[in-house]
Order: sequence, then structure tokens, then C-alpha cells
Amino acid sequence: MEKSYLEKIKETADYIRKEVGTLPKIGVILGTGLGDLVNHIEIVKEIDYHVIPNFPVSTVEGHSGKLIFGNLGGKYIMAMQGRFHYYEGYDMKEVTFPVRVMKEIGVDTLFVSNAAGGMNKEFKVGDVMVITDHINLFPENPLRGKNYNELGPRFPAMTEAYSLALVNMADDIAREQGIRLMHGVYVGTPGPTFETPAEYEYFRIIGGDAVGMSTVPEVIVANHAGMKVFGVSVITDLGGKDIKEVPTHEEVQKAAVKAQPVMTTVIKEMLARI
Ligand code: HPA
Repeated sequence: MEKSYLEKIKETADYIRKEVGTLPKIGVILGTGLGDLVNHIEIVKEIDYHVIPNFPVSTVEGHSGKLIFGNLGGKYIMAMQGRFHYYEGYDMKEVTFPVRVMKEIGVDTLFVSNAAGGMNKEFKVGDVMVITDHINLFPENPLRGKNYNELGPRFPAMTEAYSLALVNMADDIAREQGIRLMHGVYVGTPGPTFETPAEYEYFRIIGGDAVGMSTVPEVIVANHAGMKVFGVSVITDLGGKDIKEVPTHEEVQKAAVKAQPVMTTVIKEMLARI
């Protein structure tokens, strides 16, 4: 008989427990071009996604991604290098499966990062934006369907989807270190198209500051599971009706690579203070 979603989560968590001696309380999901943080981790153990039972395998550019366990900012963490995007064809349960597994092994705080297009007129390419809230414009919600009460409530609140305490902590660090750190609402879209000028304009009008193709599903599931979340977007391009530049995947990656030292500094210092 086909295993249920719950059974799969437990099986994968058991596998990780067997492979990894100490289990972390903090998880980090690294977005496009934001793998630099990994270079700062004192790595204890790495597991390729393709050997983890029930894990989807990342298709972007052929490399599969891995789970990394180790120390960062003096804290023992696990990091996902490479995430699963809805636009790749995974369903929402697959996209968010790693977050379920993190929770099952004891993770209670989730850091997420992504590359995003900015529509807030104050933003510049290379800015780092702390996500204070999001708007879900994916065509579905990862919690649609049967609710497993063991995993969380049927109707979870999303009033503080991004922990205010963690936002404040990031602000303190930015102030102390003279880092320009923006705040904003992340609009999650299915992609894979970048936005039309009218769409950027629409997202700005409805209250968005940046737009991207990830993060929202994982953050919904993390909240359902009762985890604390901190999210950060690197602004890799700007959009709107007066902006003529055409975003490309290569430019997005280049801009992300350039901005990541700031993101790395903030996350590392937050981990030290948590
Ligand atoms: N739109 C959507 N996703 C993105 C963008 C964008 O402009 N930039 C980086 N990821």
C-alpha cells in the first residue's frame, strides 16, 4: 500500500536521525544564488537529497542539492542547499515536505532566504529586505486537503507569520553594524515567468514590496507546524511600469551573489544571539 504523507515524514525523519548524531533546532533554507552562507558553516555532515528517502530531487540546473548539518554563529543548524520550487512541477506537498521533516526532527525556528524582484520605489538592486509579511498568490495552498491534526490545526492563524522578535533582532544588528536593511511584504507567485510591468505595478498597489517564486509555501507550512520564521529577500532586479531592464536568471544570480555577504552577516549574527 502507498505510504501516507505522515508515514513518509516519519520515515524520512528516522533516516536523518540515523545518519546524524545531534539534531538541530534551527533550520535554514537557502535560495537561488544564496549558497554562500554554506561556506561559513563548520560542516559536520552532508546528505545529498537523492539518497534521502521520500525527498523530491531538485531539477534546477541538474544539481540535486543537499542537507547540511553543522555550526554557524556558534549554533548547531541544518541548512537546505537548494529548495523545491512549484514552477519545477512539484506539488505543494513536495515543495514543503522538507519543512515537515525539519519539524519532525525537532527544528522550531526556520530561516528562509530568496532572490526577489523589487517593486518598492525605495529599493535598489542588491538591497536585503527582511520579510515582515507575505501575500500568497500561488494557485493553491500547501494545506489544502486532509488536515493531519498531529501536524497542526485545520485553520492556522497567519497574523505573525514572520516572527516580530526576529525582525527586531535583525534591525538591531543592522543598526549596530551600519547595514542598510529594508523591510517589506513578499508576494509569492508561481512563476516561472518574471512579471510583466503591469503585474509589478499590481503587486505594488496591493501592498507588495518584492516578488518571487518561492518561500510562501514553506512559510505557511512552518506556521502550521508552530515554527518561528525569519525570512529575507535579496533584491536582484527591479520592476514596474517605468523600469525597462529585463531580468534574466543569470543577472538574478549575479546580483544575489553580490548581496549575499550582508545576508550572511545578518543571519550569522542572529544565530549567535538566538
Ligand atoms: N520576479 C519573480 N521572481 C524573482 C524575481 C522577479 O522579478 N527576481 C528574482 N526572483
